[in-house]
Amino acid sequence: MDLFEHQARELFEEHGIPVPRAEVTDSSKEARGIARRLGGRVVVKAQVRTGGRGKAGGVKLAADPSAAELTARQILGMDIKGHTVRTVMLAQPVDIDAEFYVGYVLDRAAGRFLAIASAEGGMDIEEVAATRPDAVARVHIDPAEGVTSAKATEIADAAGLPPRTVDVLVRLWDVLVREDAVLVEVNPLVRTSQGQILALDGKVTLDDNARFRQARWGDQESVHDDPLEAAAAAKGLNYVKLDGEVGIIGNGAGLVMSTLDVVAGCGARPANFLDIGGGASARIMADGLSVVLSDPAVRSVFVNVFGGITACDAVADGIVQALDTVRLTKPLVVRLDGNNAARGRAILDERAHPLVHQVTTMDGAARRAADLAHTADAA
Ligand SMILES: Nc1ncnc2c1ncn2[C@@H]1O[C@H](COP(=O)(O)OP(=O)(O)OP(=O)(O)O)[C@@H](O)[C@H]1O
Ligand SMILES: [Mg+2]
Repeated sequence: MDLFEHQARELFEEHGIPVPRAEVTDSSKEARGIARRLGGRVVVKAQVRTGGRGKAGGVKLAADPSAAELTARQILGMDIKGHTVRTVMLAQPVDIDAEFYVGYVLDRAAGRFLAIASAEGGMDIEEVAATRPDAVARVHIDPAEGVTSAKATEIADAAGLPPRTVDVLVRLWDVLVREDAVLVEVNPLVRTSQGQILALDGKVTLDDNARFRQARWGDQESVHDDPLEAAAAAKGLNYVKLDGEVGIIGNGAGLVMSTLDVVAGCGARPANFLDIGGGASARIMADGLSVVLSDPAVRSVFVNVFGGITACDAVADGIVQALDTVRLTKPLVVRLDGNNAARGRAILDERAHPLVHQVTTMDGAARRAADLAHTADAA
């Protein structure tokens, strides 16, 4: 789960990382009072869980409290990359002498954390990373050792950051560990003209597996950049959008993962991952089908079910009922195996929907789904 900037700022402050004074509001009227409390001039910042706010017009300087109210009114309700701005943070402006980038991210492939740091932080860091990778230092961190002052010094030196950033690097590691984050990022970390080091913007992604011990964040819903993922999440489905043309529905994450592999092995690309778990009800099947079918890239759908506690006849009933509520527009290949497979197949045979194809083996069904995806118009 991604936190909002103001929540990241709060964590930084709790862990002793210097941040500018700031307050959050959803009302432009209140913004005026906040600006007054913060000394008049403020930076008004859209709170959305996506990057590039500044470039989208979501970060603006206001010269006085009435300008702050006006600016807050402009920014509230704004759409930034599909995210509606519901709150703004007003922060004390600081005189920036230099902008740096620092962050820690879990590097799953390496089984380590990775520190990423650059002396050229700010809004163009993506461009710096793309055009001058040498300007971005990458240092692996052994999770058991963490970031000691020595390690922080190594990171700062590699990136050409001033020695005064070392303390922030150590504390930022503390944020990652204590708050169960898989990513913490400060961009920009600035040196003010008075020589002070301050975190002006923060991004924190929490490890969802640790949410049970980070109760303070409640269950503010996770953000899904993809509208199909958002729709699926709203229906409680375990769906991940992929780039291919064969929609996949299966019961059990392991079976769905191997279904993706088998479809790929047939020369087609899976359009999604969708695990309906033990839920074979008509409702879950209909929800799953409607999400998968609403992906315009999908040309065929492969439903791969191994009946266990939930038997195949129950799954077949679910599919038949789902066909009454969801208009099937693309061929559906169904493979039923396991508990009560024969009864399940008979139920689907009886329904005899012209777009439903039954194949009894997983390999055969994957091949059929791949073929149908490539000749979908003929199906
Ligand atoms: N309190 C502040 N005082 C002075 N300048 C600020 C302040 N906060 C932000 N800025 C300036 O605005 C720029 C953009 O702000 P910020 O990093 O918060 O937004 P962003 O980078 O566009 O958003 P995101 O990180 O979501 O892409 C910063 O690089 C900094 O130059
Ligand atoms: Mg930023």
